[in-house]
Amino acid sequence: MAAEGRPQATTGVAMSDEREFDAAAERVADGADPAAEAAALVGLMTDEERQWCLDGDLPFWAGLADLGSGGYHRRTFPAARVPRLGLDGFAFSDGPRGVVIGPATAFPVSMARGATWDVDLEERIGEAIGTELRAVGATLYGGVCVNVLRHPAWGRAQETYGEDPVHVGEMGAALTRGVQRHAMACVKHLACNSMENARFSVDVSADEVTLHEVFLPQFRRIVEEGVAVVMSAYNAVNGEWCGQSRELLTDVLRDEWGFEGFVISDWIFGLRDAGRSVAAGLDVEMPYRMIRAAGLGEALAGGACTTEQVVAAVERVVATLLRFAEVLSVPAPSRDVLACDEHRALAREAAAASIVLLRNAPVDGEPVLPLDAASLSKVAVLGRLAAVRNLGDGGSSDVWAPTVVTPLDGLRTALAGQAAVVHDDGDDRRAAGALAAEADVAIVIVGYTKADEGEFIGSAGTGHLADLMPGADDPDLAAAFQADVAANGVESGPPAGHGESTGFAVGGDRDSLRLHPGDEALIAAVAAANPRTVVAVVAGSAVLTGSWDDDVAAVVQSWYAGMEGGHALADVLLGRSEPSGRLPFTVPAEADHLPPFDRGATEAVYDAWHGYWRLARDGHRAAYPFGFGLSYTALALGPASAKVEGDDVVASTVAANGGLRAGVEVVQAYARAPERPRRLVGFTRVTLDPGEHRVVEVRVPRSRLATRDPEAHAWVESRGSCELVLARHAEDPEASSCTVDLPPL
Ligand code: BGC
Repeated sequence: MAAEGRPQATTGVAMSDEREFDAAAERVADGADPAAEAAALVGLMTDEERQWCLDGDLPFWAGLADLGSGGYHRRTFPAARVPRLGLDGFAFSDGPRGVVIGPATAFPVSMARGATWDVDLEERIGEAIGTELRAVGATLYGGVCVNVLRHPAWGRAQETYGEDPVHVGEMGAALTRGVQRHAMACVKHLACNSMENARFSVDVSADEVTLHEVFLPQFRRIVEEGVAVVMSAYNAVNGEWCGQSRELLTDVLRDEWGFEGFVISDWIFGLRDAGRSVAAGLDVEMPYRMIRAAGLGEALAGGACTTEQVVAAVERVVATLLRFAEVLSVPAPSRDVLACDEHRALAREAAAASIVLLRNAPVDGEPVLPLDAASLSKVAVLGRLAAVRNLGDGGSSDVWAPTVVTPLDGLRTALAGQAAVVHDDGDDRRAAGALAAEADVAIVIVGYTKADEGEFIGSAGTGHLADLMPGADDPDLAAAFQADVAANGVESGPPAGHGESTGFAVGGDRDSLRLHPGDEALIAAVAAANPRTVVAVVAGSAVLTGSWDDDVAAVVQSWYAGMEGGHALADVLLGRSEPSGRLPFTVPAEADHLPPFDRGATEAVYDAWHGYWRLARDGHRAAYPFGFGLSYTALALGPASAKVEGDDVVASTVAANGGLRAGVEVVQAYARAPERPRRLVGFTRVTLDPGEHRVVEVRVPRSRLATRDPEAHAWVESRGSCELVLARHAEDPEASSCTVDLPPL
């Protein structure tokens, strides 16, 4: 990308060598301190070069025009490049369901992967994404999204892993580990970013206990995993925009957690004030030359921030690049890795592992699933979502998968030569019912698309946000960028008319937790026609099913399942893969069992009570609890026991498979810290052969049992007697508990 737009070294400055960065990187590889090497390198920069490193390298208006015409999928966002010193800066591509540039692998969305509870699988997905990222020329992956799901109406729910901070943290840490074998990862959006339509305007109030025990632990976990970069959120927390919150970006992230990487803003509207953002510890404004390019000089002159703070920010960027120099010096793989067979197979494996079997009632004495392919002659597949590309959000996480296997494709392929698979989009319910009546089984695919839920930019460019936009671009920079755009061709997108957009789809927060009325009516018509009705729910988070689920034999949550999703659905329905998904959130019986959610709020109070622990406090049973998922085999847990080992508590039980098929168990450990609700503190996923009994351990770092003291702004360790519960889900009636004595640490 355009090197031309970069500032030239000012007259009188000694021209340093463009091998400076590589030489520093070699010293770091030999054991030198990256921070000290970065300080020396930044010492060679001019003031102009330092300020250049504090925002994206692209011009605002030209960049925006390119973005709107498909640029998202064509190029990385570069920043902090100073060729005079051999500093390549970084090149960002988004996620989380894959790399958004070029014809990449579309994995199932993060929420689906959260339902696997499989950290090894997530790490492998991270590795695959890391290689694809490098193949498209990027070095920083923006897809570790770990905002805790506070309410299922959140439009971007699908981009995170679930409602519980321990579970979300482990999944995000696994993705980070995998990606960072090949590139740098960026965790986002710090913090409390879990409303979409109001994201540019809402101020979230949260007290210290709520923040540190519920909304921040997963970020800390990923920082401890060594994540390179943190992205701040758009919204405000406790009266300050996150991109200029000293409390979040310096006091908590660096001083308390010891984060050594750098912080970037969220895109375009991630900060409002150049000086405040630098003083707060936000290192790079992304992705364009915008607020800082216009206001940093004045901010420095007026004392809103200092030269030392500018230098410190650039040093953090350079030190991180030095730390990752060895990883990034490995030559990028060829573009053949994009959506290669191996990555597609991984996408299929993940999609199958993510499917949650919510209901499997008997028909004629036998559970309706798995279907016995040999006994089928006609299968009816019903619903408009059965035969469309439906990968989820149409915003920044949109991946241009070269091909997509729909549910109908998957079932037709799996049953080829065995059974006729007929389809009706369900618009005419009587016709759909008639087709279902003639079939051995009716599979109804219902739920949402990116028009119902996803990223929302409806309010961008209006009102106070328009005031943030800068004057005209620097003409040289704009010309260099446009020349680069013209020279560096167009990525081939998905086939025309197949769904993905070149701009943004307007999804936003959901306005209902129920299915569309047409979907509910279709289910009723089909269920009335065929007792063997199986419903697959496509959604990024919880859908209320109470008005229809008793009327059908089986229900699966099948998510935005990625480019191989249709094969995976067939695999599970036909019993070629076991249904091993477990809900990463609560499906409540009623919407009002959840915390309040106002899509248009300008102020919101987040307390420590959402998800399964809110339902437990209020005495509500979930329709389907957190951690729940059925199996095709008979799984059970034995009695629990626990012991202290160093800084960990190790809980164990025996997991048994008493059935005739292999199955997957997710053993979940819950504990109650003093005066706190019972919450997840660890989990272990195991595969059990038929008849197998196995001891399963769940390791729980004692830090997860600590409580936050808001007066001391510090953690208080738990001591004395502690009850641990091992369970198969948050409301497991057969859960087994034990007590362990925690000595002082
Ligand atoms: C989103 C981020 C994303 C960024 C860059 C923003 O609108 O909030 O999650 O990483 O765009 O694509």
